[in-house]
Amino acid sequence: MVGPQKTGTAALHRFLQLNKLFKTSRQSPADFEEVQFFNDKHYFKGPAWYFSRFQADDDRDRDNNNNNNSSREFQSPGGGPSDGERAPALYFDKSATYFDDPKAARRASRLLPDAFVVILLIDPAERAYSWYQHARAHLDPAASELTFEQVIQARDAEPRARALRKRCLEPGYYSQHLAKWLEFYPSRQIIIIDGQWLRANPASVLNRLQLVLRLEQSQTIDYAKVLAYDQRKGFFCELISGSEPSGTQPGDSPKTRCLGEAKGRKYPPMSRDARLYLARHYWARNRQLARILTDIGQSLPSWLLDATSLSQLI
Ligand code: A3P
Repeated sequence: MVGPQKTGTAALHRFLQLNKLFKTSRQSPADFEEVQFFNDKHYFKGPAWYFSRFQADDDRDRDNNNNNNSSREFQSPGGGPSDGERAPALYFDKSATYFDDPKAARRASRLLPDAFVVILLIDPAERAYSWYQHARAHLDPAASELTFEQVIQARDAEPRARALRKRCLEPGYYSQHLAKWLEFYPSRQIIIIDGQWLRANPASVLNRLQLVLRLEQSQTIDYAKVLAYDQRKGFFCELISGSEPSGTQPGDSPKTRCLGEAKGRKYPPMSRDARLYLARHYWARNRQLARILTDIGQSLPSWLLDATSLSQLI
């Protein structure tokens, strides 16, 4: 699950694991749930390090005692368990930094040529704004001092503002990044998910994803039974087991476990000026994305139909 950042990757990561078939990497203090192996930070630690991220601590202890190769337990999607006592599992790496790193596609395809590549896309203008809010929440000096309008138009500004502009805008150059992944993976292994649909109806996205990943009926769960809308959060959240999706009494809210405060932040809507600037900025790139998706037989997210209409530019 390659990103990009701010498109709902944490929600997809969390919800996927409600089906016990899906196993992900262990949390790390520095990168949380992400491995970020195919970028530069950890790549030179090698494949054994990477595969060891997908083992539970008790597996690692046992392997170390048996002096076995630590990559033995890892199966890329489609693989079965490597050891008869183990339940089957599909392993996934969610690292939202991969999508817009040109090296990541090449490196991932060498190590995991059979993997499915899941890409979440939301309107890149919304993604840019969410990234700006994320930077503000993390007290980034440029984001704290400048408005969003100032940041996105900060072409000739001082380096910190320019760097923030780049991080707001460039991951949203979806056509360019997707083309890179298509150089290294066949289109049948690329799964595009509309992040706006994930936000509005995660159960249907996850139920469909289980089908696309070709799971047997017995390996699937019905996500409509394990997710519920949380009024207070304003997002879908995991239902706490035993609770009903609609609450037990009329007017009652279901008991849920939501993502933390850093996911689904509260902030004012984007200004009309910023929206117009970004509609123009992304227009040609969004048209190119629509062309690529059509060529590979993928349906177009509804935000992309809006973003490529000429009425957005005036
Ligand atoms: P905002 O906080 O700007 O609203 P990522 O996990 O890739 O960093 O993406 C974060 C975004 O996921 C949030 O951005 C939010 O809009 C979106 N999101 C989608 N579904 C969500 C959910 N069920 N709970 C919380 N955030 C969700």
